[in-house]
Amino acid sequence: MAIYGIIGAMDSEVQNLIARMTDTRPVEVAGRLFTQGKLAGQHVVVVKSGIGKVAAAITAQMLVDRFGVTALINTGMAGGLDTRLAVKDLVVATGAVQHDFDLTAFGHAPGYMHGEDDSRPTVFEADKALCHLALAAAEQVLPAGSKAITGTIASGDIFVDDSDLKAHIIRQFDAAATEMEGAAIAQTACANGVPFAILRVISDLAEHQANVSFDELEVYAGQLAGDITVAMLKA
Ligand code: ADE
Repeated sequence: MAIYGIIGAMDSEVQNLIARMTDTRPVEVAGRLFTQGKLAGQHVVVVKSGIGKVAAAITAQMLVDRFGVTALINTGMAGGLDTRLAVKDLVVATGAVQHDFDLTAFGHAPGYMHGEDDSRPTVFEADKALCHLALAAAEQVLPAGSKAITGTIASGDIFVDDSDLKAHIIRQFDAAATEMEGAAIAQTACANGVPFAILRVISDLAEHQANVSFDELEVYAGQLAGDITVAMLKA
């Protein structure tokens, strides 16, 4: 039986999903409220991880170990890096890197963790079928004027609101968007042989005043990401 573990970092990214679930069974473990039940006809467990890579990795591993999820979906917001992106657009990850993982002191490329080729960052590859479903769902759900693109998501334990850091992440990782959890969930998924998808609505452009844009768009973007997740589950 397929069970989808759905992770958002913040209330705005999960509450709208939990509100639409049926047969809910909430369980609190390690300070996290895991809501088991059905969403769009699928078995799901929805949980707010909290912000950042460690919180996300802990949560993802618990979903695998304790709730037996067979796929992980990370939904929410991101800062846009790709010049094609505007706020309210969507990025579906082809893969995820950790932009603040740094073993350059040993001659490895920024973001390199393991593997034979240390001249490149370690990219955790998203599941192609889930990525395809997310894009198809976006086509149905995105309002006129918003678009969906695919690309690499760069995650790190920093809210990017600085043009120099933004330029660095684009240059080093060729990333489409940045956020703070996706690559940790990706790493956990890959360690457990579980497929994953990351879908993120653009809330800001990861530069000056990104925090203002984020605050203004948080509710809208969280809801839109939720709508796309539900359409994806239906499909
Ligand atoms: N999530 C949404 N916008 C972000 C940004 N600019 N940096 C990190 N995480 C984000």
